[in-house]
Amino acid sequence: MYIFFRTVFILCTFVAFKILKIMSKRYTITAALPYTNGPIHIGHLAGVYVPADIYSRYLRLTGNDVAFICGSDEHGVPITIKAKKEGVTPQDIVDKYHAIIKTSFEDFGISFDNYSRTSAKIHHDTASEFFKTLYDKNEFVEEVSEQLYDAEANQFLADRFIIGTCPKCNYEEAYGDQCENCGTSHNATDLINPKSAITGNAPTLKETKHWFLPLNKHEEFLKEWILKGHKKDWKPNVYGQCKSWIDDGLRPRAVTRDLDWGIPVPVEGGEGKVLYVWFDAPIGYISATKEWAERENKNWEDYWKDKDTTLVHFIGKDNIVFHCIIFPSMLKAEGSYILPENVPANEFLNLEGNKLSTSKNWAVWLPDYLNDFPNQQDVLRYALTANAPETKDNDFTWKDFQARNNNELVAIFGNFINRVAVLTNKYYDGEIPEPSEFKTIDEDTLAALKAYPAVISSSIERYRFREGSQELMNLARLGNKYLADEEPWKTIKTDEARTKTVMFVALQIASALAVLSEPFLPFTSNKLKSILCHSELDSDLTWDDIASKDILLPAGHSIQIGKPELLFSKIEDDTIQKQLDKLEASKKANEAANKVVEPQKEEITFDDFTKLDLRVGTILEAEKMPKTKKLLVLKVDTGIDTRTIVSGIAESFKPEDVIGKRVTVLVNLAPRKLRGIESQGMILMTEDEAGNLVFVNPSIDGVANGLKIS
Ligand code: MF3
Ligand code: ZN
Repeated sequence: MYIFFRTVFILCTFVAFKILKIMSKRYTITAALPYTNGPIHIGHLAGVYVPADIYSRYLRLTGNDVAFICGSDEHGVPITIKAKKEGVTPQDIVDKYHAIIKTSFEDFGISFDNYSRTSAKIHHDTASEFFKTLYDKNEFVEEVSEQLYDAEANQFLADRFIIGTCPKCNYEEAYGDQCENCGTSHNATDLINPKSAITGNAPTLKETKHWFLPLNKHEEFLKEWILKGHKKDWKPNVYGQCKSWIDDGLRPRAVTRDLDWGIPVPVEGGEGKVLYVWFDAPIGYISATKEWAERENKNWEDYWKDKDTTLVHFIGKDNIVFHCIIFPSMLKAEGSYILPENVPANEFLNLEGNKLSTSKNWAVWLPDYLNDFPNQQDVLRYALTANAPETKDNDFTWKDFQARNNNELVAIFGNFINRVAVLTNKYYDGEIPEPSEFKTIDEDTLAALKAYPAVISSSIERYRFREGSQELMNLARLGNKYLADEEPWKTIKTDEARTKTVMFVALQIASALAVLSEPFLPFTSNKLKSILCHSELDSDLTWDDIASKDILLPAGHSIQIGKPELLFSKIEDDTIQKQLDKLEASKKANEAANKVVEPQKEEITFDDFTKLDLRVGTILEAEKMPKTKKLLVLKVDTGIDTRTIVSGIAESFKPEDVIGKRVTVLVNLAPRKLRGIESQGMILMTEDEAGNLVFVNPSIDGVANGLKIS
């Protein structure tokens, strides 16, 4: 039976292998170039870089030729604004964050073939040349138009230099080029009530010449290519946004700006102007590929101009229009480039119920994570993938992170591997035992194992990475259950032959996990491969081997001797609480920073002021007003008399806390009855940074009650 099973399998897999070899393809995979005005956080990782990395690693593992490309997006207004604020040059800003971001990507195992930057010479040259080609082909419309201008700052206001009301959704803080609320991208002159972000002034209009990409000219092509061509295979959110753009009617878009930070417009009349950041940045994918090809002795054009190359852009949903409408129109206008096969944009990740925000410091920054969870990159990768915002916005919570780690990575994956390694060491000194007869459960388990590569492939190829990560976990579950059912720790006392077979099967599953986990958990995969000594095998195990080979780890092969390294470890509640406290602190700091200082009240005369009789007093007694939440009934020594004052401070102070407090009292306020008790004055209060009530306290020793405050 076993022999028969094997023969059929070998035949099938030979055919499968042939097909796969023929299917080996060339891929150019891009991940959105991050803006270099801050470090990156979990939202970036979940939305773009982890999925792109899973995809690229998978394609490499299945024998494809992959260029996985990214780099820093170093132009654009936000960077100049940040530089101005900090009193440094834009170059200082991008140098700083380029280094930080690049390190984070390396730390988290994002396996770019090249991570470049748009301030690199090769990029300036490539983008300039691209612009010139379109210019020479008459693909631009030149137009002198009135643009928003800040006379005080002596500057045209483009993009983020201008804030106003979104013409589409009425959000009041939309930027000149895009509304962050509804995602629409527009021209700055479309904004309602625009204001300069530099001076706050309402801008004036001033004439200036710019070059526009006439998107309207490409409407037919876009309709054909997206609406007819990609209806089924693009994600509904991506397809939907494109359709709504095209249905709204496309208009020319300016591709130059009056700024001094960026790539100079390389044609006559372009002095003092630069390319729009969204014109140059996507060309960054091309320049980064060129830089890599030069280094690796490859031909970059194979990756951008060969029709057999598949181009895929990984982005967040706010980038859809640029990658699906504008950049393809640029590539089409140029004429010699391929177009993206797919643009699997993700939705947004929220954090503990709130939108991730750099300015509000509502984020988990990658350098901070690594500091708090050293060597636990895969835990974050896994938690973000298992809960990825693939079809809708999703929420990252620290509780979920802890549960994914403790209940899945530790309890299922880690536990299975640890048992296998420990028992193999204990029973066989680390040597894979020779199996004897296979029972149905063994054959079924091995057959189930062989199905996994195809199942996970199918998820990954359809950009369903959360599904893929769950299938991987199911394979670990299969192993865990197999061991729990077959109980080798019991059979070892009664049936040596049976125990060997069980351990042999379990080791095959462990080996499959080492290979199939690589796209998702690259650090774990490496550790597992070294525990199982994969490097001692005759040849490296590939993705396809898992289905095609009958034996992954042969009897007689030795795994690492000694106590195996734990792949994952439990995360305790107090560790999670620390992260929650950090977020709470940043919320508090924000509230304090954002506290609106109320505008000054109407002017009063000196006489008005002297009407107020303010005295120093002491609270002598205090008790809660029955049946109320807010009121305390106080007896206050005002120096003039001892009187009753009802004060709305019971939610902030217990009666016993206020007895003896020195306070400021407005004594000539007309008496007022509250719940039947006459209040004869008012105690002055304010709030501290955290929003707690505090007394306006005349804390000078020796000041007698009744002293006037003036
Ligand atoms: N920097 C942009 C962002 O973070 C993305 C640029 S993608 C590219 O939203 F295509 F322009 F490179
Ligand atoms: Zn809007």
